[in-house]
Amino acid sequence: MAKAPSYVCQECGAAHRKWSGRCEACGTWNSIIEEKPLSAGPASKSLGALRGSPVALTDLATEEAPPPRTISGVAEFDRVLGGGLVPASAILVGGDPGIGKSTLLLQAAASFARNGLKTIYVSGEEASAQVRMRAQRLGLADAPVKLAAETNLRDILTTLEAEKPELAIIDSIQTMWADNVESAPGSVAQVRAAAHELTTFAKTRGVSVVLVGHVTKEGQIAGPRVVEHMVDTVLYFEGERGHQFRILRAVKNRFGPADEIGVFEMTGGGLAEVANPSALFLADREDPAPGSVVFAGIEGTRPVLVELQALVAPSPLAQPRRSVLGWDAGRLAMILAVLEARVGIPFTGLDVYLNVAGGMRVSEPAADLAVAAALLSAREDAALPRDTVVFGEISLSGALRPVTQAENRLKEAQKLGFTTAIAPAGSKFGQGSGMTLKTMADLVTFVGDTFGA
Ligand code: TYD
Ligand code: MG
Repeated sequence: MAKAPSYVCQECGAAHRKWSGRCEACGTWNSIIEEKPLSAGPASKSLGALRGSPVALTDLATEEAPPPRTISGVAEFDRVLGGGLVPASAILVGGDPGIGKSTLLLQAAASFARNGLKTIYVSGEEASAQVRMRAQRLGLADAPVKLAAETNLRDILTTLEAEKPELAIIDSIQTMWADNVESAPGSVAQVRAAAHELTTFAKTRGVSVVLVGHVTKEGQIAGPRVVEHMVDTVLYFEGERGHQFRILRAVKNRFGPADEIGVFEMTGGGLAEVANPSALFLADREDPAPGSVVFAGIEGTRPVLVELQALVAPSPLAQPRRSVLGWDAGRLAMILAVLEARVGIPFTGLDVYLNVAGGMRVSEPAADLAVAAALLSAREDAALPRDTVVFGEISLSGALRPVTQAENRLKEAQKLGFTTAIAPAGSKFGQGSGMTLKTMADLVTFVGDTFGA
């Protein structure tokens, strides 16, 4: 029996039995589109012939070691991949339109090609001549990359079949269309079908495939998360338009640590690598100001120092504002509650603003203590000494919990000229960082010691 058409929300991917003006699942209006099934093949009750015969795990161990990764030479890119490109892997690079995805991947493609990897760059958005012009501007015109301007998936697969590249970059997945799917290009059905065919091609032909995906304003890769499940690695390219720098962040990686970041700066000549992000994030730090605290964080495998800024002011509103940029709003509420319940410092009647300077996003719980320090410093109008970094997790009881990689945090802070660290007692600080350590067991001690309350 042929499968009935289903109605799929283009925002969240939820399937519905019938069309309606509003998606029940996510509340978006006019997002539901009819999707025809791929093909109505003959019904079969028998199981497929045992094609993928299972192999014993022990047998696999005797096979040769996996082929080595290829390094692009763009160190920040290689780092985020987990130490270079794994053969036959599928990678999704998502980001807002105009953030620099095409620039990044053209530069990466050129580097891989110069390192001897047979590379093809397929653009569905620009003509080959335009891509070549961009390459010229970036000083990459002589790189042995092949260019194709194509949007028909079948044509692309035919091209790849003929060229037999080792790396194919598809820019972007939203412009691709498969002629066996009736929905419009960019719809969930098309994106899903194209991504599926390309990742399958990657696995069966041993070609690494990079899919570029535009992100919707809700922060999802358009044609929701469907693509994320199919690929090995998901990278997001982020940054504020007003800021020069861009962060490539791994959010999923089968071949390396997730949470790893690569930092770039957008210049007139393309993306430049930033080898020392801490220096960049702290570059325009002003003189010690109340509410400003430097957090010694870890992003992936690398320590990164960032400045947290808080502003606390009397509120005219019945329900004071809690505004956060670059940090979790729920976590901020928790820290405010702990400060009130365990230390007796209320924030009622006060607006609270918290910002991670430079447009960076912090997700580590280890930033708790630095957030608390910034909030208190703003509230008490008392600046912390300029040469101090802070890190530590706060528990609901008000106790400070040791965090991982304390030694690396200290080393990075020392490298950047800091002399004192405020940290939870019991952290493993290792040997001879040369920093003055102020270790504390709980928030009450911290407040008394730092703000004399
Ligand atoms: P692009 O890579 O086209 O973005 P995406 O593919 O994510 O849509 O980058 C577009 C922006 O980058 C554009 O606003 C101009 C800027 N840019 C530079 O500042 N310097 C450069 O060398 C290049 C190529 C682009
Ligand atoms: Mg682009």
